[in-house]
Order: sequence, then structure tokens, then C-alpha cells
Amino acid sequence: MKTHIITYGCQMNEYDTHLVKSELASLGAEFVDTWQEADFVLVNTCAVRGKPVEKVRSLLGELRKEKDKRDLMVGMMGCLAQLEEGQQIARKFGVDILLGPGALTEIGKALEAKSRFWELSFREELAHHLPPAPQGQLSAFVSIIRGCNHHCTYCIVPTTRGPEVSRHPDLILREIEQLKAAGVVEVTLLGQNVNSYGNDQPGFPKFAELLRMVGQIGIPRIKFTTSHPVNFTDEVIRAMAETPQVCEYIHLPVQSGSNRVLRRMGREYRREWYLDRIRAIREAMPEVVLSTDIIVGFPGETEEDFQETLSLYDQVGYDSAYMFIYSPRPGTPSYKHFQDLPREVKVERLQRLIEKQKQWSYKQNQRWVGRTLEVLVRGAAKDDSYAEGHSRGNHPVLVLASQAPRPGLYQVVVKQATPHMLLGEVVGAEEPATIPLMMA
Ligand code: 5AD
Ligand code: SF4
Repeated sequence: MKTHIITYGCQMNEYDTHLVKSELASLGAEFVDTWQEADFVLVNTCAVRGKPVEKVRSLLGELRKEKDKRDLMVGMMGCLAQLEEGQQIARKFGVDILLGPGALTEIGKALEAKSRFWELSFREELAHHLPPAPQGQLSAFVSIIRGCNHHCTYCIVPTTRGPEVSRHPDLILREIEQLKAAGVVEVTLLGQNVNSYGNDQPGFPKFAELLRMVGQIGIPRIKFTTSHPVNFTDEVIRAMAETPQVCEYIHLPVQSGSNRVLRRMGREYRREWYLDRIRAIREAMPEVVLSTDIIVGFPGETEEDFQETLSLYDQVGYDSAYMFIYSPRPGTPSYKHFQDLPREVKVERLQRLIEKQKQWSYKQNQRWVGRTLEVLVRGAAKDDSYAEGHSRGNHPVLVLASQAPRPGLYQVVVKQATPHMLLGEVVGAEEPATIPLMMA
């Protein structure tokens, strides 16, 4: 069967796509590059905000039209597939197969079933599944924990992915060993909240111990995402600082700088706690690169609350940030209990926050100019006279393609910085060329 998978959403979804792809491959599927060539199109969906849901809706609309013209099977997986909202959309657009995020390994059964509308929900053997190493990749994801035990009032994830289930450490280590053998030089440990790793299973190591165990395998770069400030313990900070393979990069979502908003969001910490974590992190790792997630325009957020977010941003001085306008999600507590703010207010605050982010990213990126960074070059950039890659701190980095002809790890001297990227020169490049002034 000619198969095409389209993935929306987070890195967890990318990992799940890889997992399902390997299941399908073992069932003899052949993968094609576009849905127009496919007999089976599988859409891996995201439900975290309204926008990704709209994208799925319009894609499924197009696929519906195609189905009227020819024999085409359409499947839906991921977070939206788990929700009533997604099931309604699936019915409307004649989706044949529905696979919740906990049921991915059932794809074969779902395809086999004569009844085309196959509803499968929560988790089963997924935690025990060992997907094969991807070939020819330098960077890979490894899922260590699924689900989330927090109850942030805006978030649909606890509903779609259920409570936390940690994967057995032996499986995680085996998967990473396989990746190493396949030539992978960077692994990112994944979970909705990786810092809670092991808390649900007596006898499992905690996240800090797991980091040290993964470090022992000897893959040069270890990253992880996402972290919850409440679970970001001193032990985790120590394990990071003492494990050289663990990159000096932390994504630590703050969501808001206002204690009043944090309480209404159900974030379980106060601004002061968060800032204390940042202090402890910087004390142990002075060069750490920090990014965050921020939601603007949460219901009831006043101008004063928003000012608190701006001032927290200044206090931390993030290297980068993902900024979102609050999106009411049916099924979440904040949807039910709180009134959404006018769109203009939310958009205007987002613009001000983006301004702040640009200033800080520019300032923080400047600190690398003249210094040497290790860059994982993936391949040609959009403009193919350049090769693109990323540093241990996750900065996007461009170098001249002639200086990094093959994907791999390179030592790069940073020559210029913009708010969005670093431009550099590969150390010892045979023909060092001057980098043109290229401001993004
Ligand atoms: N509206 C806006 N942003 C959201 N996020 C999660 N739920 C919502 C929502 N309802 C953001 C949070 C989270 C990131 C993955 O998505 O910032 O950290
Ligand atoms: Fe959602 Fe909060 Fe869990 Fe993150 S920690 S997945 S934002 S409930």
C-alpha cells in the first residue's frame, strides 16, 4: 500500500510518526512523498491550540474531495483523534481509521479491520515498544515518558495523552545504544514532562539518574524536553552539570510572570520559585542557553499581569521563546470557567512580547560572536550556498556549504549573530571564505 504520513504538532508527534512508520514498514507499506500519490494517508494531529486543529480540518476537507474521486483510505492519529472534537471531525470528513496516542502499535489491526471506523483509545503496550533506529540520521528523539500528571487549566494534553507512564529504563538505554550504533550523535529525550520520569514506577531511576545513565552510553549530545519548573530539582541540575554529554540547554516553560495568572493557570509554582530555579541553573551552568513557552492573554490577564511577564522576561533574559496567544480548548477547565479576552488585546500583547524576545535574542546571540561552538550540520540550507545546523545550545547556525560538505559535527567560529541565528566559519576549513553580511 502506498502510504503518506503528514505530521502536525510537537516532537512527541514526530517520534510517534517514526514509530508508526516502522510498524507500517514491517507490514509491507511503501512510502510516497505526496498524498496525491498515496492510497493511504495518515494524519498525525495536534489539539493543543485552535490553529493546528483548523489545519487538520482543512487538510481532511481536501482529502474528502479526493476520496470522492478515487479509492483512498484516510487515517487520523495523535491528540485530536483522542478527543470528541476530533471524532466529530473524523465523522464529518469520512476518516476511515482513528488511532489515539496510546494505541499506535495497533495500526496493523486497525488497517486489517473490515469495519473502517476503528476507534481505539488509551495506552497499552506502547511503553514496551522498541522502534528500530532510523537510518542515516544524526539526530533522533527517544520517548522516555508519556502523558502528564499536571493539570494546567488551559491544556488539553492530560486529556489526550492521559497520566504519566514512564518507559522502562532498559528499553530507553537499549534504544539509545541502537541509535549510537546507527551513527546518531544527538538524542533528545522526550516527554510532556520529562522531569517526572520514574515517579510513577517504583524501582525506576529518577530523571537525574536516568540522565547520568544515558550519559554513560557516550552519545556526544543529549538534550531533553519538556520540563516543568516544579519538577526541576537540584538533583537534575547537578546531573546536567556533571554529565558532559548533556547539552547546556534548557527549555523551561514559564507561561506567565504573574503570580495571579500562574495560580489561575494551575501551574503549581510562583514567579519567585521559577526565578530561583533559573538562579540555581545559572549558578551550576553559567553558560546555559535558556528558552521558554509563554501564553499571552490568558483569561483575566490584566495589563499589570502582562507587565509582570515582561519584567520576568527581563530578569531571565531568555535566549529564545515560543510565544502563544491563549487559545480556548473545549474540554479544559479554563474553557469552561473563564471568559476569553478580546482578540485585539491578545494580539497587541503578543506583539509587545515578540519585540522583547527579539531584543533579548539579539543580545544573547551576540555573546557567542568570536567564540567557537560545536555545530551539528544537517545539510543544505534554503539558500544552498549555505549549510545549516544547530549548536549544543540549540542555536540555528549557518556556515558556507563549501566548508561543511557533509552532515556531521563541526567546530565553528561565530562571525555574526542575528536575533534568529548565528553565522560562522568552520575551523580549519580549507578555503575559509568571508561570510557576507546577511541579516535576517
Ligand atoms: N493556548 C495557548 N497555548 C497553549 N499551550 C498549551 N495549551 C495552550 C492553549 N490552550 C502552549 C503552552 C505549552 C505549549 C506546548 O503550548 O505554552 O507549554
Ligand atoms: Fe499541559 Fe501543563 Fe502538562 Fe505541560 S505540564 S502538558 S502545559 S498540563
